[in-house]
Amino acid sequence: MGDGVKRIGMRIRTFTNADAAARALASNVAASIAQHPDIVLGLPTGRTPIPLYRELVRLYRERRIDFGRAATFNLDEFLGLAATDPRSYRAFMQRHLFDHVNVLPRRIHFLNGTASDVERECRRYERAVGRIGGIDLQILGLGGNGHIGFNEPARALAAVTHCTTLRRATRRANAALFGGRVQAVPRQALSMGMATILYAKRIVLLATGAGKARCVAKMVEGPVTPDVPASFLQLHRHAEVWLDRAAASRLQSRG
Ligand code: GLP
Repeated sequence: MGDGVKRIGMRIRTFTNADAAARALASNVAASIAQHPDIVLGLPTGRTPIPLYRELVRLYRERRIDFGRAATFNLDEFLGLAATDPRSYRAFMQRHLFDHVNVLPRRIHFLNGTASDVERECRRYERAVGRIGGIDLQILGLGGNGHIGFNEPARALAAVTHCTTLRRATRRANAALFGGRVQAVPRQALSMGMATILYAKRIVLLATGAGKARCVAKMVEGPVTPDVPASFLQLHRHAEVWLDRAAASRLQSRG
């Protein structure tokens, strides 16, 4: 399980199912924190990381992981939603991880969706990532259209933290947080940029389910193109793609 195939740029690991991938990644994160207690973690939202967060909480309860010195930076947030809004990504993270483990609130970094000066808020976040020395381990999900964070397919991608307009497919994919109503999903969001993400020392992209298979194949085996923002991970020295069998099913050579 999880045999690695070394390629230039990306290392692929394939697991039997989503739970096995989540368990393996949680213990990998635990080992990284044990080695480096003041680690800076970059964290995603979405359905994919939920089993990972569940595993991290379990490891914490079993005293096998200690977030006491760690810092976290989340990738993105909806514009116009306050941290206290249950539909915000911040609230998602509280529910699934932060409320259940010992990350210190002052070491949790999040974009503020209700900042009055959006540009300033993006600069603040970008500086905070820089000041802490960059992200040590960036965990990513994969949007069905190839986005990472909220870096949507476009003719040109933004390098740094920015305000972005969401594609309809992305709003649809996020509708569950909004009672299934696509119309209720904000049209804009704040997101780390491509360089903010690629500046991380190590990146693990987690993708599970057959719905991601086509996009995974493009990201791993296709050209590096802004049509598939995740394909830029091919340029990173320490980018890993952790998959279940279903998500790996369209790769020509599987890990
Ligand atoms: C959202 C997030 C992305 C995430 C994506 C995938 O759009 N902004 O960071 O990777 O959803 O979501 P899921 O894991 O639910 O497929």
